[in-house]
Amino acid sequence: MCGIVGYIGKEEAAPILLDGLSKLEYRGYDSAGIAVFDGESINVAKTKGRLKVLSELTHDGRMLPGTLGIGHTRWATHGSPSDTNAHPHLNSEETIVVVHNGIIENYLKLKKKLESKGYRFVSETDTEVIAHLLDYYYRGNPLEAVTKIMHRMEGSYALGIIFKDHPNELYAVRKDSPLIVGHTDGGSIIASDVPAVLKYTRDVYFIENEEIVRLTEQNMEFFTVDEEPLKKEPVHIDWDANAAEKGGYEHFMLKEMYEQPKAIADTFSPRIKDGRIEIEELGMDDEAIRAVKKIVIVACGSAYHTGMTSKYIFEGMARIPVEVDLASEFRYRDPILTDGTLVIVISQSGETADSLAALREAKEKGCKVLGIVNVVGSSIAREADNVMYTWAGPEIAVATTKAYSCQLIALYLLAMKFAHVRGTISEGELAEMIEELKKLPAQVEMLLNNKDRIQKFANRYLAAKSIFFIGRGIDYAISMEGSLKLKEVSYIHSEAYAAGELKHGTISLIEDGTLVTALLTQENLYKKMISNIEEVKTRGAFVMAVTNEGHIDVEKAADYVVYIPKTNKYFTNSLAIIPLQLFGYYVAVGRGCDVDKPRNLAKSVTVE
Ligand code: F6R
Repeated sequence: MCGIVGYIGKEEAAPILLDGLSKLEYRGYDSAGIAVFDGESINVAKTKGRLKVLSELTHDGRMLPGTLGIGHTRWATHGSPSDTNAHPHLNSEETIVVVHNGIIENYLKLKKKLESKGYRFVSETDTEVIAHLLDYYYRGNPLEAVTKIMHRMEGSYALGIIFKDHPNELYAVRKDSPLIVGHTDGGSIIASDVPAVLKYTRDVYFIENEEIVRLTEQNMEFFTVDEEPLKKEPVHIDWDANAAEKGGYEHFMLKEMYEQPKAIADTFSPRIKDGRIEIEELGMDDEAIRAVKKIVIVACGSAYHTGMTSKYIFEGMARIPVEVDLASEFRYRDPILTDGTLVIVISQSGETADSLAALREAKEKGCKVLGIVNVVGSSIAREADNVMYTWAGPEIAVATTKAYSCQLIALYLLAMKFAHVRGTISEGELAEMIEELKKLPAQVEMLLNNKDRIQKFANRYLAAKSIFFIGRGIDYAISMEGSLKLKEVSYIHSEAYAAGELKHGTISLIEDGTLVTALLTQENLYKKMISNIEEVKTRGAFVMAVTNEGHIDVEKAADYVVYIPKTNKYFTNSLAIIPLQLFGYYVAVGRGCDVDKPRNLAKSVTVE
């Protein structure tokens, strides 16, 4: 996820580009760049780091005069954050310049082809392929070159493009990455999102998939991928500027919850090929996978909870013993890491000090370390032997939601791969699981759309003293995450308990009216959970149950029920967590808490 802007008109472009990028920094901020055409040449300034660094470098844009330009703020996907990998990217003759938001999935194939034709690449990005590919197809007609590359590229993209020999035109294209365009006073502007243009216009055109726009100072023309002209109507935007950065959502946390269907799909799609799980970045062939004797998972907080879930999955599905450790404990207990141990470090930020220290400890002890990381080029991503990225995009809210969901997906894929290679699941079972995985985005969306019902329920518990979450097996791991989500954003005390363990102490805390959230997604544990519900009900608890569709009989035991759609028994966490995220969020909103920045917390914990 990155942010792009572009401008053509009467004004100096650079200050408009920098201003627009400042409103898009939430989309990524590991590097930034602008390109401006000064009447003779295309001048580029780009740098690793925040937009502030670019502003200083260009003296607030004054170093790049000209009234036609494009800009970019990056969240690295292909190629670590660096000056060279920052956008914009040029062709070798510096006559075509591009900014890109998205991922070109077949970029390696295209790159090889272009290299065989003599093109030389300077960056590690997928975007540079676009600049060279445009050069390859360009015969003096920009529109024709743009449509040709659209037929060749697979993946997602929103592009801003300038052709030096068409100095009165700016081109923009969209496929599966957002793009809007609008007229300013004396010019035209493009951007990834509304906040970047609100200062200049409130009437915008939303570009749809596979549409192209040619902008001039006074005009904009829309085309299909077959170069057919299109008619489009503008939409009037009346959001205030603050709300706009959150895409109209009240908080980043809610926005990010709503981004989960896409993030989940982005994380599994590139790794399912012809009915097989392919995780090239794993760096292990089948023989190496079969040689793994034990997996040790190390992480903190919510990432630790995904590790707990995957313990049940790896052991159940692939029959490999798994230990899960809190990173802060791991390094001080002199862990026994014998030959054949694979260490997996899970981290959204890739910068968590405890997880990084655990990674170093494991490497020192001679283990292979696989990182499951969201932020490209982060320390854990760089130091792990291999890294499997979660494609959640930047997460701004301190409480994780979409990165958590993507970590689960990455771990499901790994477990499926291991199980298939080791022969503990059949071809048929693998195919069935892949089908179930593909249904998850739509199922998550359906659960999110149930938000009003959860909000109503949450509003009854704004003054709760303590709230409990119970479950067995995978449901215990879900309980831990549900409890953490609630307490970290709402400041209500909460505990997660393995349901069978409750009677060994904690049940003494249950009073008349105490809310107990019971998870019942595992069929083999369903009856046991009903008994645990009865135990707390007898002590006066009010029980919210989260269970699979079809278990209507749960309504005899529980007071309030949320049903989740049917899925494979190993994937239930991805669905059951959604009502729990919504519950935590709405309790916090109802109590007037600072949801996106809860007290005492930080997004990335870089101290021990
Ligand atoms: C909770 C939360 C934290 C993080 C933990 C690890 O909502 O976000 O518990 O999961 O601090 O952070 P990363 O994944 O960046 O290593």
